[in-house]
Amino acid sequence: MANFVVSENVAAMHGSSTMIAAQMASEMRAKGIDVIDLSVGEPDFDTPEFIKNLAIEGLRSGLTKYTPAAGLAKFRQSIVDFYAKEFGAQLTPNEIAASCGGKQALFNAACSLLDPGDEVLIPKPYWVTFPEIVHFCRATPKYIETEANDFVLTAEMVKAAIGANTKLLIVNSPNNPTGRVIPKDELIRIIELCASRGVYVITDECYLFFAYPPAEPFSSAVLPKDVREVVCVAGSFSKTFAMTGWRIGYTIANPEWTKAMVKLQSHSATHPTSFVQYACAQALDSFDQTKAAVAAMTVEYERRRDWLIPELNNVNGFKCGMPEGAFYAFVDVRGLLGEKFPTSAAVAESLLKEAHIVVTDGEGFGADGFLRISYATSMENLKNAVKQMRELFAKG
Ligand SMILES: Cc1ncc(COP(=O)(O)O)c(C=O)c1O
Repeated sequence: MANFVVSENVAAMHGSSTMIAAQMASEMRAKGIDVIDLSVGEPDFDTPEFIKNLAIEGLRSGLTKYTPAAGLAKFRQSIVDFYAKEFGAQLTPNEIAASCGGKQALFNAACSLLDPGDEVLIPKPYWVTFPEIVHFCRATPKYIETEANDFVLTAEMVKAAIGANTKLLIVNSPNNPTGRVIPKDELIRIIELCASRGVYVITDECYLFFAYPPAEPFSSAVLPKDVREVVCVAGSFSKTFAMTGWRIGYTIANPEWTKAMVKLQSHSATHPTSFVQYACAQALDSFDQTKAAVAAMTVEYERRRDWLIPELNNVNGFKCGMPEGAFYAFVDVRGLLGEKFPTSAAVAESLLKEAHIVVTDGEGFGADGFLRISYATSMENLKNAVKQMRELFAKG
């Protein structure tokens, strides 16, 4: 039999560096090594109990069959109602589609829009999956450097990057891996600019609810309809409700884009799990309970952030700005680079081998010289990790 030859579309993609770090952590654990995993991209909290109960209720009520590919009518309506109540957005159900997590939302959005040769603007550092989806579509990523502005994208940067073939911009705020939040007025300027130049925008709002005051959650779903025509919000319940394993998200986009995404999804995953859609719809309807559950998690992340960032800045060779959202510290370790550590990957490797601490190297995010440290873990883990980092990189 002939050797298997992978398709060009998939060959164009790279593996996920965040998954590789998680894999290394689990392999070490399997060998009985006590690791501190700071590579995690998911909440350390359990899904709130009332949401679990709602899923059981949905299951018991007989929601065990296919739903429409766009999701249950109830699910779409609950998203509309929640966004109206929370953000004052005026949406209609035909702008909503359920997806199996934010990742599939992004995939549906990009694959239903892009053609080979299209150019896609991606601010750097980026979440690892963005360029890979673009590669899969045989489109071309064009990166926008943001370090000069402390990793916050501006309309000026986007304006300078738009070219004749630019079809799409992908923004993610609050950001993975930097934790930075694009100020609301700037994000509006960016999207208005794109709308005026006929460039589409995917706004990945996966960490929408994890913005720490004074930063505020801002959803582009509230923009006026004529601006929103070019926007697809990629939403996710994964981080918001600590339910990464449930695989549920959604898109908010104009009805034509939505139809195209649903068509694509109807031939792949079809739809996210029926009773999970039910649980999320009911949870959104229980507005106060939901808000309280999310607020409790946000407060805890903020407490850890406030402790962690000054501590990281006390580690020799580490430099870290204050993240305004998500649950990642993005640490500049270029101060350590030299003969002993030629790259940030070598710093990460030394943390792993000598201190059994797993972090994610910045290279996969397009930011060699940085490490991403997740604080979606206990204070005890953070304290132990910082202590060991301080010892490992002590001067002299
Ligand atoms: C920036 C960003 N977008 C999207 C996702 C996708 O999340 P999910 O597919 O679990 O909703 C993640 C997950 O880590 C993320 O960090």
